[in-house]
Amino acid sequence: MRALISALSLLLGTVAAAGVSTVAAPPPAAALPDGQALTPPMGFNNWNATGCAINETLIRDTADLFVSTGLKDAGYKYVNIDDCWAELDRDPVTGRYVPHHERFPSGIEALADYVHARGLKLGIYTSAGTQTCARTMPGSLGHEDIDAQTFAEWGVDYLKYDNCHNQNVPALERYPRMRDALKKTGRPIVYSICEWGQNRPWEWGADVGHLWRTTGDINDSWASMLSLFKSNVVLAPFAGPGHWNDPDMLEVGNGGMTEREYRSHFSLWASMAAPLLIGTDLRRATPQTLEILGNRDVIAVDQDPLGAQATVLRNDNGRWILKKPLANGDIAVTLFNETESSATIGTSAAELGLPQGPAYVLRDLWEHRTFESAGTFATTVPAHGTVMYRVSRGADWWRQPPASGFGVDLPSAGFGVPGSVVPAGKPFTASLSVANHGRLPMLEARFQFTAPDGWAVRRLDPNGRRLVRAGETVSTRYEVIPPAATPVGPYQLAATVTYHSIFDDEVHRSWSEELIVPEPVPAGVSELSAVHWAKAANGFGPVELDMSNGGIRPGDGRPLTINGRGYAKGLGTHAEASILYYLAGRCSSLSVDVGIDDERDPRPDPTQSTAIFEIWADGVKVADSGLRTWQDDAVHLDGNLTGASFLRIVTNGGPDGFRWDRGDWADPVLTCTI
Ligand code: GLA
Repeated sequence: MRALISALSLLLGTVAAAGVSTVAAPPPAAALPDGQALTPPMGFNNWNATGCAINETLIRDTADLFVSTGLKDAGYKYVNIDDCWAELDRDPVTGRYVPHHERFPSGIEALADYVHARGLKLGIYTSAGTQTCARTMPGSLGHEDIDAQTFAEWGVDYLKYDNCHNQNVPALERYPRMRDALKKTGRPIVYSICEWGQNRPWEWGADVGHLWRTTGDINDSWASMLSLFKSNVVLAPFAGPGHWNDPDMLEVGNGGMTEREYRSHFSLWASMAAPLLIGTDLRRATPQTLEILGNRDVIAVDQDPLGAQATVLRNDNGRWILKKPLANGDIAVTLFNETESSATIGTSAAELGLPQGPAYVLRDLWEHRTFESAGTFATTVPAHGTVMYRVSRGADWWRQPPASGFGVDLPSAGFGVPGSVVPAGKPFTASLSVANHGRLPMLEARFQFTAPDGWAVRRLDPNGRRLVRAGETVSTRYEVIPPAATPVGPYQLAATVTYHSIFDDEVHRSWSEELIVPEPVPAGVSELSAVHWAKAANGFGPVELDMSNGGIRPGDGRPLTINGRGYAKGLGTHAEASILYYLAGRCSSLSVDVGIDDERDPRPDPTQSTAIFEIWADGVKVADSGLRTWQDDAVHLDGNLTGASFLRIVTNGGPDGFRWDRGDWADPVLTCTI
């Protein structure tokens, strides 16, 4: 087994973060597993929601909310405190941690009692260094025994052990030391290694802790979530009961992603048997957030006792199929659409390696409905969306309505432009289809299509067919016209298909997608920051106008500055960014200075601040900056846009990924002829 794991880790060498140190000696004895964390830990950690603005009220309220919202019954157990819970200095007499007087006036022990009284467990945090990452309290390096003893005496049940200020002591000395110290206390404490995947903890972590971070920190953005998914999904062979890969805590509910993206985040984490640590303030959680976090069908996949992490069955240009075997022989199938356009994604019983049978039972884990399928598991998945199925071989398949693939085809703008951008006044066609993937017929199948108020909709081929036999697909088409005066913006199109089983069970499947009605660019010469885009995606918070990207919040950048040169106008982006403008064939050129903004993150390594700036006219790249680093002056780009319907500007993170890459499009001047 170890030989296999080493061979796999050689193959997986590319996933390790930069700065991997060599694995010196085998870790000392005292091996796990110890019967803890046999399924991935579930609970809460305040960091993503509050940073250092933590206090005991938040922890108590969260414990209460676990109980009152049903999250405890759904499996959430650990209420974990992150950084900034202690005073800056240890007690001079005892050498112990002192809980922060303002944030935790009642102390940690009282808090543990409060949490335990509700049938829950308390987690705490420190760093395997001289201070924690926020530098507001001491770390445990050199104090492992007394700190472990203190945590145990307080009644702590979980420790997250971070990596900051580690004095370059090898991880393989620091992390086992705390493991041994925790063990000596005699109290069962789940041990979470948080060294950001820097020393390939998946190779040694199983003997040291119950879970290990495989990546740097998550932030509340689609790009961050996606990149952590991709780093973690390849590590499936290393996870199992008592030893889990940890792609970091959840961001569900924090506002930086859409509800559909949060469902994908939750689905992917559950498929990867990741710890499910809620990272939002539950006191402000919406019903939609609670519904995602409380989805018991999806939680059951995460918590399955077999403890297998999903593997990638296929990834077809961002259309992912993940397969997670479950303890009772079922298989969880995750259909994830990373792309910007909806797509049909699917697999079959044969591809999943399921034994042959007359039919299969298919549970849709987000719609909470069960179907029968002859062996095809496929449907349209919207851009950034995820569909999860649990597939089994139930003998009572014939009681279920047939599974269907519901497909909606909208015009793509073409030219490699993602999603649907529909200019006002121009007709387009939407096609709806439903495929019967079951053994039994679908009865009384009916489509319904809803466009925004005032839009003209005409069914092109009235289709009276109501019966869809096993294996058949029926479709219909609609012509849609957004009125000429439609204001620029996003609009929802919705469609449903309804059908009945032979037992008269009604199935209602719905779909919706956002269309963008773009604003044609103004005539003459304009600063691009004064022109409305049709669509924008950015790696970290929103694209900023006339300031650098800053952080997650809108408007939090600084004046645009590239290697000391300031610019009054422009766009502050963060890789991976893509901004689309509708030109309607009226423009001739974009002229712009590009470069990495001087607002760089100091950690971990400024050489990572690199990006490539690209200008696209329809499907053609018309200018490219090459790789720019934080040390470079701005470079000037001129893009020829003659005749193009769309302009797209892209800040591409370059070969080292997109972290720390704040790219400026400075003084961008768009020239249009009419
Ligand atoms: C590191 C960790 C985070 C969080 C912060 C607290 O960045 O990786 O998860 O604990 O420290 O300062």
